[in-house]
Amino acid sequence: MQAWQIDAYGAPLHLAEVAEPVRGAHDVLVEVHAASLNVADLLAGKGAFKAFLPAEMPMTHGLDLAGVVTAVGSAVTRFAVGDEVYGCPDLARRGGTMTERVAVAEGDLARKPTSLTMTEAASLPLVSLTAWQVLVERAAVQPGQRVLVHAGSGGLGSIAVQLAEHLGAAVATTTGTSNVGWVRALGADLVVDHRTQDFTELVHDQDVVLDGLGGETLTRSFGVLRRGGQVIGVSGPPDRGFAVRMGLNPVLQVVMGALAFRTNRQAAKHGVRYSFLFVHASGAQLEQIAALVDDGTLRPVIDRVYPFAEADRAYEHLATGRAKGKIVVSMR
Ligand SMILES: NC(=O)c1ccc[n+]([C@@H]2O[C@H](COP(=O)([O-])OP(=O)(O)OC[C@H]3O[C@@H](n4cnc5c(N)ncnc54)[C@H](OP(=O)(O)O)[C@@H]3O)[C@@H](O)[C@H]2O)c1
Repeated sequence: MQAWQIDAYGAPLHLAEVAEPVRGAHDVLVEVHAASLNVADLLAGKGAFKAFLPAEMPMTHGLDLAGVVTAVGSAVTRFAVGDEVYGCPDLARRGGTMTERVAVAEGDLARKPTSLTMTEAASLPLVSLTAWQVLVERAAVQPGQRVLVHAGSGGLGSIAVQLAEHLGAAVATTTGTSNVGWVRALGADLVVDHRTQDFTELVHDQDVVLDGLGGETLTRSFGVLRRGGQVIGVSGPPDRGFAVRMGLNPVLQVVMGALAFRTNRQAAKHGVRYSFLFVHASGAQLEQIAALVDDGTLRPVIDRVYPFAEADRAYEHLATGRAKGKIVVSMR
């Protein structure tokens, strides 16, 4: 079978002939029908995660999928051959999804939303889990709270805006001029055009900011929170709490603490908090997300679907940083 791989950090992505996946007792073998692209693929390929998630080379790209179960391990209880599933395999397992078949732990999978096609379902796992883990798990957003989602037109932001609105928050978001209209239609109460407007002049008293942009956008976000509010960053810097949750050694815990030192100090000056979040696989959360999709609360936003043979072009598209929702690769 074939897979899109890199042979070393920073090396070009290419289509390679690879061995069939090996299935463990708790694994499900999935025939991949579609896989979506994530910025994390590009970062992992450059070695950005190697301190805490060292990759085995060659490394297959792809962090989420939709497909059909073709075999199950002896201890699998939730799935049977023929089930349509979607999911985000545990990142530490290094079993990339930009391929024809992959073995995935059953706990990382859920039944595919019945109202979606395979390409639509494949667009959701990693970004919807991230939005869920930021807004539901960590921030526990309550009705009436104010939430700012940066980059509401991106793969992550387009789902996070919808989820925040569903949770009853007043949602503000940022995006570029050409996206303002459709991002408002996702449920945002205020859309700030980052090309012509300054969000710090228009947004204030937020309870939560979801930041996927980092840099100046992150530090300037502290000023738009109410006292006691929080920024949850997914672009970094990583912090000590993240290192502890990942079970990293004490040296790396100190290093990560140092990386976030300046950011934490800036947050403290504003009387607010900063924390870094790194998504984790969860079939249970994907089941709840599938229910929200099937009742019409969440809908995928897809920029473009590329055939499997053109996944390299799909990644070039993603790397422009201008995607409108998700970019998906279809295997069949
Ligand atoms: N830590 C984690 O677990 C985790 C999980 C998921 C994602 N992430 C991170 O979250 C970030 C976003 O991911 P994504 O998938 O949403 O990326 P993406 O789809 O590539 O985001 C592209 C979008 O960002 C918008 N954008 C770019 N610059 C902007 C700015 N200055 N202000 C407002 N919008 C801007 C663009 O709109 P315009 O073209 O109109 O500018 C475009 O629609 C990435 O850095 C990714 O690595 C982290």
